Amino acid sequence: MSAADLKLRIEEMLRIKVSISADPLESNSICWIGILVEEQIQRLAASVSTELRELEARRAKLQREAAAAGARADSLRAEHARAAAELQRLRVSAEQARLAQIEATRRDSPELAPPLQILSTLPPNRLSPINPSSELHCHTYSPLTGADVDGFLKTTLRQALGYNAHFTRNPNEACIYLVLVGEAFLSEKNHRVVSTTERHTLFLNESALKTLPYWGGDGRNHILINLARRELSVGSGDGFYGFSTGRAIIAQSTFTDTQFRPGFDIVTPPALGPPGGDVWADCAPIAPARRKYLLSFQGSQPPPAAHAQDQDDFLIKFLQKTVSSAPASDLFFLQFECDPPTERHALRAIGDWALCGTDRSRGGILRDSTFVLLLAPSDRSYVSTALMQARLYEALRSGAIPVILGGDRVKLPYDEVLDWRRVVLLLPKARITELHFLLRAIPDSDLLAFRRQGRVLWERYLSSVQASVDSLLALVRTRLNIPPRAAVPVTGTPGFNDSYSPPKIETASAEAEPEETLGPIEAPYPSPGYRRNFSLALLHGYELWNDWGEPFMLYPQLPWDLPVTSEARFIGSSAGFRPIGKGAGGSGKEFSEALGGDRPREQFTVVILTYEREAVLTAALARLRGLPYLNKVVVVWNGRSAPGEAAPSTWADAGAPVVVVRTARNSLNNRFLPYHFIETEAVLCVDDDAHLRHDEIVFAFRVWREHRDQIVGFPGRYHAWDLNYNNGFLYNSNYSCELSMVLTGAAFVHRYYLWAYWRVLPAAVRDHVDDRMNCEDIAMNFLVAHISRKPPVKVTSRWTFRCPGCPVTLSADETHFHERHKCIQLFSQIMGLPLLSTQYRADSVLFKTRIPHDKQKCFKFI
Ligand SMILES: *[C@@H]1O[C@H](CO)[C@@H](O)[C@H](O)[C@H]1NC(C)=O
Ligand SMILES: *[C@@H]1O[C@H](CO)[C@@H](O)[C@H](O)[C@H]1NC(C)=O
Ligand SMILES: *[C@@H]1O[C@H](CO)[C@@H](O)[C@H](O)[C@H]1NC(C)=O
Ligand SMILES: *[C@@H]1O[C@H](CO)[C@@H](O)[C@H](O)[C@H]1NC(C)=O
Repeated sequence: MSAADLKLRIEEMLRIKVSISADPLESNSICWIGILVEEQIQRLAASVSTELRELEARRAKLQREAAAAGARADSLRAEHARAAAELQRLRVSAEQARLAQIEATRRDSPELAPPLQILSTLPPNRLSPINPSSELHCHTYSPLTGADVDGFLKTTLRQALGYNAHFTRNPNEACIYLVLVGEAFLSEKNHRVVSTTERHTLFLNESALKTLPYWGGDGRNHILINLARRELSVGSGDGFYGFSTGRAIIAQSTFTDTQFRPGFDIVTPPALGPPGGDVWADCAPIAPARRKYLLSFQGSQPPPAAHAQDQDDFLIKFLQKTVSSAPASDLFFLQFECDPPTERHALRAIGDWALCGTDRSRGGILRDSTFVLLLAPSDRSYVSTALMQARLYEALRSGAIPVILGGDRVKLPYDEVLDWRRVVLLLPKARITELHFLLRAIPDSDLLAFRRQGRVLWERYLSSVQASVDSLLALVRTRLNIPPRAAVPVTGTPGFNDSYSPPKIETASAEAEPEETLGPIEAPYPSPGYRRNFSLALLHGYELWNDWGEPFMLYPQLPWDLPVTSEARFIGSSAGFRPIGKGAGGSGKEFSEALGGDRPREQFTVVILTYEREAVLTAALARLRGLPYLNKVVVVWNGRSAPGEAAPSTWADAGAPVVVVRTARNSLNNRFLPYHFIETEAVLCVDDDAHLRHDEIVFAFRVWREHRDQIVGFPGRYHAWDLNYNNGFLYNSNYSCELSMVLTGAAFVHRYYLWAYWRVLPAAVRDHVDDRMNCEDIAMNFLVAHISRKPPVKVTSRWTFRCPGCPVTLSADETHFHERHKCIQLFSQIMGLPLLSTQYRADSVLFKTRIPHDKQKCFKFI
C-alpha cells in the first residue's frame, strides 16, 4: 500500500469515527466501534512507519546506486579519453611508420664500397730521375704511414707513433715512410740517419739516404723528420743543407727560402715538450689580460755576419727610445745582452738572437709579459729557425702573446692548416715605429682571445712530441683529404648476457602522465653516421684545426654538421624530414605529430648512472614507458655486485630496449663513456632519481635539436665570485637570474662530447672526479663551454629536483658544497675558466600566449 493510499484510508476511518460518535443513541455500541477504530488506526500508523522506514532505506540504496553509476560514467569517460589519446598516438605512430617505410623503399643510394688502398709499389718502381731544380715542384700523392726510429728521440717518437692510429709496422702496408734524422749529425761529422723498416744505422751522406730500402730512387713517399731539441744554443739548423733529398718531404724547424718548398715541406716545432700526456701544469693562467710588462725581450745579439742583411741595431735603438719615452704605466723588460753572457756559437751566424738564462728564468719573465718580442733572423734567407720556433713555443706556453718583427717573411709551424693570425702579431721590421701604438690599441677581450687561441694551438699541436708528430701526419693526411681513423667507441660489458635478461613487468608509473600526445612511438632509429668522411675536412677543415681542435679523429657525427636549407627540404632533399603539418605548420596537434625543425628526424638515448639501487632504477625505467623518440636506455651499472644479484629479478619495462653495462670500477666518469650501445647523437644523461615528466623531456629534446653543441637541460647552477676572499669562484645552486652550468643529472648532450670528455679534457680533471667522487657534471660543463664557447641552455621552469639520494643534513650539505667549490677552483687552474653566463631559458613558443579556444598550444603545461 502506498503512502497516499494509507493516508486516504486513515482519513476514511476518522470520518467513520466522527460520524458514529455524532449519534448519542448508539453511543455504547459506538464506543466499542470507536475502540475498534482506534485500534485499527494504531495498527495502520505502525504499518505506516514501517513502510516509511523501508522507503527511506530504498531511497538511500537508490542514491548509492546513482552515485556508483555516476562514478562508472566518469571512469568510462576517462577511459574513452585515454583510448582516444592512445588512438591518436597509434595513428601518429602508424603515419610515422608509413613514412619511414616509404623512405626505406625509396632509398636508392647504392651501397658504397670503400676505395682500394693505394700503397706504394714494391719493389720500388723507378721514376725518371728528377734534377734538383725541379724538386721544387714535388707534390705528395699517396696515403700514410711510417716506421720507427733510432737515436735519442727514438723512444719518444716510437711511443708517439704507437699511439697514432695510422701507424703500421708492416712496410708493405705503409704508404709513407718516416725517417728520423738524428740531431747528432749536425754537430758531429758522422751524420746519422736511421731508417727503420730495417733497423740499421746509416750515415747520412747522400748515398746512404739513397740506399734506404724503400727510397725508390727519389725518396717519394718519404718524410725526413729532423726534430730539433734542447741543444738549441748549438743550434739545430738545416739538417739537409746541400743534400739532394729528391721527392722526399722534409719536416724540420729550420728552412731557407730557396730550400723550403711551399705546400710540400713542413715547418715543425722543436721537440721541447714532454713525450705526451697532460701539459697544463706548464701553462700560465689566461687572466689577467694585461700583465706586469707590456712587452719583453731577452736575447743576445748575434755577431755581425756576412749574410746578415737586416740591421737589427736600428731596432734596438728604436726600442730603447720607445721605452724611455713611454708613459710610466707601460713597463718594458728589454734585455739585449745576456747576463751572464751566452756563448756565441758559430751557428748563430744565421742571425739568431741567442736565448738568455734558463728555462725557468725566461719562463718567469714571459709569464709576466703581455707581449713578447720575437725577431726574425737577420739573415733574410731564413724563413724559420729552430731558435725562433723555440721562442714561439716558450711564449705560447707562458701565455705571452708573440709579436714577430720580420713576421712578413717567416713560416710558422703547420701554417697550412693553423691560422696563426689569431695567435701572433706579425709585423715587418720596418714597421717597428708602429709597434708601441699597436700594442696599446688592443682591447682586453682581444688580448684574451689571442692568448686563449695560442694556448689551444700550443696544447693540441705543439706541446709534446706526441702532439707534434700527430699534427705532422694529420697535416699530410689533410693535404690528401684522407679521412682520419674513426673514433673507437667503448665496448661495454653487458650486465645481462644474451640468453638471460630479467623478466620485465609493466608497472604503472606512480606519477600518471598527463593525457597529452607528445609524439609517435617509433621503432628504434639510430642516427645515421659517417656521412661526411670526405666533405668534412673540405668544408670544415679550418674549424677542425683551429676551433674544435680535433683533426685527428673521425666521428660519426659532430654537433656542427650542416643542416640542409629549408627550401631543399621540400625540393629534392626531403628524406628524413618530418615538417610540422607536412610543411603547412600548425600548433598543438600538428606540432605533436612531427619533429619539424631544420634537422631530419632522430631519436635520443637515455643514459642512466646508477649504483646498486634497483628499486630506484626500476622506478626510473617505469617512468620512461611510452616516451616518444626514445631510442634506447643505457644503464651504467656502477656497482660491485652484478645487476639482478641483490634484489628484485623483475625490472620495469621501459618500452624501449634497455642495456645494462657493467663498469670496470665505480667512477662517476663512467657516465660519459662513449659506449658502442649509444647509437644516437642526442644523449639524455639522467640520475636514476631525477623525476622528469615526458613533456619536459620531449621539449628539452626539441630544444637540443637547435642547440646541438650546447648542454640543454634542467637544473641550473652558476659560479659566483667569492666576495670574502676575492680569489676565485664558488659553486652556487641558489635561485638566480643568471646561470652558467646545467647539471648533467638531467641534460641532453651531443654524443661527440662523450668522446671529447676523454680526449680533450685534461686527465687531471677526470682524476679529481674519481678522487672526490663528485663534480663530473661540473667537468662536463667546463668541457662543453671550452669547446663551444657558449653557455648551456636551461629549459622550462624546473630549477631543481626532488632528490631522494641527496644529502639531507646541513653538515653533509656543507661538505658537498665545499667539494664543489674546490672542483671549480681546481678545474679553472687546469683549464682556465671557460664558463659563460646566460640570463634566459627556453620555453615552448606558445607558452603563456593567449590563443583562440579552437587552437591548442605546443604543450599543455610548458
Ligand atoms: C756514405 O755512405 C756510404 C754507404 O753507406 C758509405 O759507403 C760511405 O763510406 C759514406 N761516405 C761517407 C763520407 O761517410
Ligand atoms: C666513413 O668512415 C667510416 C669509419 O671509418 C666507415 O665505416 C664508413 O664506411 C665510411 N663511409 C664512407 C661512405 O666512406
Ligand atoms: C647468462 O646469465 C645467467 C644469469 O646470470 C646465467 O645463469 C647463465 O649461465 C648465463 N649464460 C651464459 C651463456 O653465460
Ligand atoms: C644561498 O642563499 C642563502 C640566503 O640568501 C645564503 O645564506 C647562502 O649562503 C647562499 N648559498 C650559497 C651557496 O651562496
